[in-house]
Amino acid sequence: MQTQNNCIGVIGTGYVGLVSAACFAHLGVMVHGIDCDEKKIAALNEGMMPIHEQDLAPLVAAGIQRGRLSFSTDLPRMVQAVDTIFIAVGTPSQEKTGAADLSFLRAVALSLAPLLIAHRYLVIKSTVPVGTSAQFSCWLQESNSAAQFTMVSNPEFLREGMAVSDFLQPDRVLIGVETDVAQAHMQQLYAPLSEQGTPVLFTNIVSAELIKYAANGFLATKIAFINEMASLCDTVGANIDHLVAGIGTDKRIGPGYLQPGPGFGGSCFPKDTLALQNMGKTAGMPLSVIDGVIASNIRHKQRMVDNIFKVLGNNIRGRRLCIWGLAFKAGTDDTRESAAVFIVNALLKAGAILQVYDPVVTKEKWAALNPYEADGLIHGSSCADAIQGAEVVIVLTEWPLFKTVEWAVLQPKKQPLIPVIDCRNLYNAVDMAQLGIPYISLGRPTLMPMMQEP
Ligand code: UDX
Repeated sequence: MQTQNNCIGVIGTGYVGLVSAACFAHLGVMVHGIDCDEKKIAALNEGMMPIHEQDLAPLVAAGIQRGRLSFSTDLPRMVQAVDTIFIAVGTPSQEKTGAADLSFLRAVALSLAPLLIAHRYLVIKSTVPVGTSAQFSCWLQESNSAAQFTMVSNPEFLREGMAVSDFLQPDRVLIGVETDVAQAHMQQLYAPLSEQGTPVLFTNIVSAELIKYAANGFLATKIAFINEMASLCDTVGANIDHLVAGIGTDKRIGPGYLQPGPGFGGSCFPKDTLALQNMGKTAGMPLSVIDGVIASNIRHKQRMVDNIFKVLGNNIRGRRLCIWGLAFKAGTDDTRESAAVFIVNALLKAGAILQVYDPVVTKEKWAALNPYEADGLIHGSSCADAIQGAEVVIVLTEWPLFKTVEWAVLQPKKQPLIPVIDCRNLYNAVDMAQLGIPYISLGRPTLMPMMQEP
C-alpha cells in the first residue's frame, strides 16, 4: 500500500514515536526515526527494542529489512529528506503544578527552526495541552522568521502493550488542521487506514489537542467511578461483578474500563488528568469532575493499603508479605505511576519485608525508577518462590500467569492457609472459599455467582 507521501520523519523513539514509525513503515511509508540518544539509535538499528511492546520487534525488523525504516541522530539529514515530520517527544508532569513540561518540545522547535528553509508539515503527536501547537509555531518563528511550515495536531490513542494493534486498527484517527491543503495532505498519509474503514476525523488544532485529554480524562473517570463503586459494594454488601454487568450492558455506558483495580497508573492517566486539571485552572474553568477523579484515585490506592492492615493488624514491622505484580497493568514492563509504587512504598515505610514477583518487571527495571525502594524488596523468581514464608499474598497486576495459578498446589491444606488480597478480582470467591483460603477482593463480599436468566 504505497502512499502518495513518500517520506516522513519521526522525532522521538519512545512508546509513541517508535510504534508510529514502525507502523507507518508497515503501511508503505518511508520513515526516518530520529532520537538524540545515540545508544538507543544504535540498539534500534540492531533490531533491539527499548520498550516491551507486542509485535513491535518484527515490524521494526521488517521495516529496516525492506529499507523503509531507518534510525539516526541526524536531524538535518532527515528534515531534508521528508515532507512531513511527526514530533513524539515526552511531555511529563511538572512536579509542582502538574502542568505538562514542554521543555523537550521547545528543544525540538529550536533544533528544527533553522532547518525549515523549505516547507514541511510539522505534526505534533505528543499529548500536549491546548495551545501548544500555537506555542510551537511561535518558538519556530522567533528562532527563524523565514521558517516554512504548517502545524498539524495528530494525538495518539495507543495503549501500552497494545500499541501496535491500536495504531493499525484504531477506533479512529484524529487530526487537527487549519487549512484544506493540510487536511488533504494528512488524508493522503492516512489513506491506508481510511481504506480499511477507519474513520479519519478532522477538526481544528485546539479541539484535537483537547480531545486527547478529554478521552483520557473520561477513561480515568470511568475507572475511578468503578473503583469507588467496588468499595461501596464492600460496605453495603452488594456485588461489583453484578453491578458492572448491570450498568455495562447499558449501551450508553458500555462495558469497557469498568474493571476494578488498585487505582489507575501508567505514564498517561495520572499525568494527563493532572495536566487537564491545570488547563482548567489556567483557563478559569476549574474541572471539578477531574479534581474528583485525581483525589479519588489517590484515596483508592490508600484503601488498598488499609485493606492490608485490616488483614494483618497495624504492626507489620519485620513481617513478610508477598506481592505479585509491579507493572501498572498486564502486558507491559512499565511501572511508571503504577499503584504498586504507592502500595510498596507504604508497606516498606511500615517496616514490612516484601517478597515481590512480576513476570517482566525485573529488579533492575524496578530499581531504575524506584531506587529508594529497591533495597527493601526481595525479588522472587516465580509466584511460588515469592510466596515462601509470607503471611499474605497481595495481587496488584492482572497478569494471566497469576490468574491461572493452582491455589490447591500453592497452598496445600496441610499447612496454614495464608490470605489472598486480590486487587484485580482475578479469582472466583466461591472457589477460594471451597479451598479454605481467606480471600479479600474488591466489591465481592457475597459469594453468589451472577444469576443468569434461564
Ligand atoms: C491509556 C489510554 O488507554 C490510551 O488510549 C492513551 O493513548 C494512553 O493512556 P495506557 O496508559 O497504556 O493507555 O493504559 P490503559 O490500558 O488505558 O490502563 C491505564 C490504567 O487504568 C492501568 O493502570 C490499568 O490497570 C487501569 N485500568 C484500566 C483499570 O483499573 N480498569 C480498567 O477497566 C481499565
